[in-house]
Order: sequence, then structure tokens, then C-alpha cells
Amino acid sequence: MAEKAKIAILISGRGSNMAALIYAAKSHDCPYEIVLVACNDCDASGLKLAEAEAITTFAHSHKSMSREDYDDVMHDAITRSGAEYVVLAGYMRILSDGFVRKWANHMLNIHPSLLPKYKGLDTYQRAIDAGDKVAGCSVHLVTAELDDGPVLAQTEVAILPDDNAERLARRILIAEHQLYPATLAKYVSREADPDWILEQVRERALALAETHERESFGSPGWRAGSEKTGKYFAYFTQKLHGEASVGLLVKTSGLDEQAALVDADPELYYIPKFFGKSGWIAVRLNIGRTDWDHVSDWLYKSWRMVAPKRLTKMIDIADQF
Ligand code: GAR
Repeated sequence: MAEKAKIAILISGRGSNMAALIYAAKSHDCPYEIVLVACNDCDASGLKLAEAEAITTFAHSHKSMSREDYDDVMHDAITRSGAEYVVLAGYMRILSDGFVRKWANHMLNIHPSLLPKYKGLDTYQRAIDAGDKVAGCSVHLVTAELDDGPVLAQTEVAILPDDNAERLARRILIAEHQLYPATLAKYVSREADPDWILEQVRERALALAETHERESFGSPGWRAGSEKTGKYFAYFTQKLHGEASVGLLVKTSGLDEQAALVDADPELYYIPKFFGKSGWIAVRLNIGRTDWDHVSDWLYKSWRMVAPKRLTKMIDIADQF
């Protein structure tokens, strides 16, 4: 099994979602491990539970500190733990923009409502007062806006005719404990999921001017130019048997560059069969360290080599200045 993703959980109090994540992580096939529980309240009961489970904890009060300074302290502790993801579990603090940026796409939160409904506090009573038939919980990526950011998964929980906020909260919490570990497991595994990887490549390839997708010998490929005369600048490869490898094929300037790349980083690059002879290079996309900006750069460079002159002329002129 691939190395487990390292998780830091941030809590403020009871930590029942934290407990659900810790227990889920005990299963040998869980794709993540908890490397840190951090808290802004040194007396939080969740901390004791984490300690009893032999998980490293970090507690630091936010009192009399600016938001930025406090988030820097937290960020340092998280980085020291080696965590790759930050998971907020009842962490009742507004985060500074800088902290959110540092953990973009690597920070998740759980919220007790069916977002985008009822952001903020008092979600249960607001759902009851609105006469909703269902409430629920959402796991989402954290962005600068409170309880905003793309929703990864939700569970609906029926509201009973005689519900009050407390009873509803109790049932939603049961749903939270199921939803959070499962959603986190899926999220941290996405980089090994060929469908997800293909979607990332596709988005970036089709974002370039005048491109379209066309399959070639069973592999998705992308061409620049018209449907009729377009030329391929990228292919997606996925070997299902033998050495599992998911990769992107792009053009280099020639055999010298190709050889230099493999020489410099043989884990990332390899010379693809057939295409290798004409200077294409394969970039591995499933080794757990894909830099998607780098992939975008490759796609762009390759696109430029085959794109119609009409499109590249202006770019070439601009590059001279
Ligand atoms: C949970 O219900 C969680 O959804 C909520 O706080 C509770 C924490 O409980 N989070 C938010 O409202 C975030 N906006 P826990 O400490 O037992 O996990």
C-alpha cells in the first residue's frame, strides 16, 4: 500500500469528530494517519483523548495574540509534525488569509448543515425554524470565506416533527462521524485515482487556445488547431498491467532534452515506447508528488510546438521584449 497521508487535526473542544478520525485511522487499509492534534484551548477534553491514543498534541492559547501571529504558531507546529493535510474538527476560529492560502486544497472542514445553507453558528435551530424537512452535515475544502469552499460530500439527516436543536444536533453528529473519515480517505487518495488525474490533465490541456480532445489508440489525447488539421501535443497514458504507471506524454525540443530530463529525475520522467524516438517525454503522475503547475507548464510548452502560427506569433513577439 502507498504511504499514508499525514494529517493534523485542529480542534477547540470535545473532539468527537477527531475521535472518529483517529479510530478510522486505526484500520490498516485507511489511507491516512494522524500525526498531530492541535488545539487553541489547553484544557480541551479532546486533547486528553488524543494523548491517551498516543498521538502528538500541541496546545497553545490564542488569547492576547493577533490572528496572524497565532496562525503562524499553528502553522509551524503543523509543519514540524510533517502533516500534509489540515483537518478542522470543531476548530472554532476564523483563520487568517495567509494560513488558508498556505493550506489551499489541503485543508478540510466539517460543518453541521447542508451547505450552502446555514453557514456560521446555530445551524440546527435555523433549519428547524425555516421548516426544513432535512438538515445534515457537509465536508468542504477551506477557502478564505467562512464555511465556504467546494463541498466534497454531504449527508442528509431527516428533521422529525418534534425535533429540537439538541436532539437534531445529536443525530447530525452521528452522521458527521461517518462522513468525515470516509470523505477524508477518498480525498487523500484522489492523487492515486487515474480518473481524477485524467480530469486534471484534461482541464489544463483544454484550457489552452484552440485545443480539442481526440482518442488515439485508446488513450485520451489533446490536439492544437482545427478538428481537421490539428496536431497532438499531449497524451494520457495508463498502463493497467505490469508496472502501474499513469503519465502524461508531451513533446520536448529533442532527444538531448529528453535524455537530460531522465538523467536529472528518473523517478519523474521516462522515455515512452514508440513516441520516445521522436523526442516525446513521459511525466509520471501517480508517484504522489505531482506539481500541477509544472504539468501546466509542460502542456503549454508542448502546445506551443504544434499550435498554429497564427496563435503563437503574438506570443513569440511578446517574448522578445
Ligand atoms: C461539530 O458538530 C462540527 O460540525 C461543528 O462543531 C462540532 C464539533 O464537535 N463545527 C462547526 O460548526 C464549524 N463551523 P466535536 O468537537 O465533537 O467534533
